[in-house]
Amino acid sequence: MGFPEHFLWGGATAANQIEGAYLTDGKGLSTADVVTSGSRSVPRELTYTVQEGKQYPSHEAIDFYHRYKEDIALFAEMGFKCFRLSINWARIYPRGDEEIPNEAGLAFYEHVFDECLKYGIEPVVTISHYETPLHLALEYGGWSNRKLIEFYERYCATLFKRYHNKVKYWMTFNEINVICFHPWYAGGIGDLRAKDGQEEYQAAHHQFIASAKVVQLARSINPQMQIGMMIAYSPVYAETCNPVEVQMAAEAMQRRHFYLDVQCRGQYPSFKLKEFERKGISIRMEPGDEQILKDGTVDFIGFSYYASTVVTTRQNAEASGGNMIRGGVKNPYLKASEWGWQMDPVGLRLILNSLYDRYQLPLFVVENGLGATDTIEADGSIQDDYRIEYIKEHIGEMKKAIEIDGVEVIGYTSWGCIDLVSVGTGEMEKRYGFIHVDKDNNGNGTLTRTRKKSFEWYKQVISSNGEVL
Ligand code: BG6
Repeated sequence: MGFPEHFLWGGATAANQIEGAYLTDGKGLSTADVVTSGSRSVPRELTYTVQEGKQYPSHEAIDFYHRYKEDIALFAEMGFKCFRLSINWARIYPRGDEEIPNEAGLAFYEHVFDECLKYGIEPVVTISHYETPLHLALEYGGWSNRKLIEFYERYCATLFKRYHNKVKYWMTFNEINVICFHPWYAGGIGDLRAKDGQEEYQAAHHQFIASAKVVQLARSINPQMQIGMMIAYSPVYAETCNPVEVQMAAEAMQRRHFYLDVQCRGQYPSFKLKEFERKGISIRMEPGDEQILKDGTVDFIGFSYYASTVVTTRQNAEASGGNMIRGGVKNPYLKASEWGWQMDPVGLRLILNSLYDRYQLPLFVVENGLGATDTIEADGSIQDDYRIEYIKEHIGEMKKAIEIDGVEVIGYTSWGCIDLVSVGTGEMEKRYGFIHVDKDNNGNGTLTRTRKKSFEWYKQVISSNGEVL
């Protein structure tokens, strides 16, 4: 009973949110490097170039590039079994379209992986997490251009050949469904916000093909490698039992299932083809694309889960706070975070079940956590009981999904195990970590790392394999 013996407990991050060193050792600019800081009230700005006088949080981030040994040692102290990180494509191919990779970039990740493996920590790698080399975005139009498939394949071939003995778990694109909401982050196209139309779906098609091709590529290089998809997934509830609202909620779920269906079942679902027909969206496919999708279905499903959503037919209902893809209205049964995300642990059990029922693939919770403002007490400690509470409840529901419902879950990585830059707002002070980083929203601070109360708590969760919560 309880969690499986080799359950992958750990934490998750992304390159542009932690590394900094944005031009070090031959790295090129990425799409993330031209998005400014913002706040809850001031939206981030996409400037397309680096402009003087503006603050770009990815440029220094938390300087993981120079401090990874200290950070990984702290993860090891917590007993991490795995560490999810992403590779910054522009470190490996600075412009994205070169033939020869940048050795210094490859060496950096090699050292990071070796450092993890030294402690028995399994690296879990996202190949593309909300960034594309800027050159590919500006010169080629990002993922709306089919040429990107070729560049991505080359990038992946380089990674797989170099690291196949060090990295077993890979995910091809972070939150692939975000492309239709935030095409710049997820696809290096357009603007920060999308129109949910032709160009984004064409870009999604290119990512599907790229992902399916590299699944095959990975198998040919080392069949031990497990290649997953990654999606932002959460339940959408009807506000009442009015069947019209229930249908609205089902349609909202279909918008998520589209991506899963393509990547797990290997074909476009009929509901999406009908929607394209109605909206006049036509996806340009090349001969062979359908077969590529069939042959390149993924080995596991990674997903992020933070909060759930409610839809209603009521006009002028009070909106809930959103995130990358959520909107909807207030749920009177749930409390919301300071950023308005409606916290719903039971929702995690629900989606673990619905994903497993639908796809029968191993599931990996690769993001979950609470973004909150932390206060440093007079004695220097951080008493983040609210974070402990949030994670405890979610792990508790995940445990029920495993123990009671028999869902196959292979791991859990809490988002932002060390404080990092927020994607939504570009802030530092929306903190998720077990480890505090001394840096504020204006970029000031010593970058010193400190253990929060949740650090010790998570350590005992891992050492007891989820028995002591
Ligand atoms: C997910 C992303 O959408 O949510 C992460 O994969 C992101 O990169 C996380 O950081 C939390 O969102 P935010 O806006 O609080 O950073």
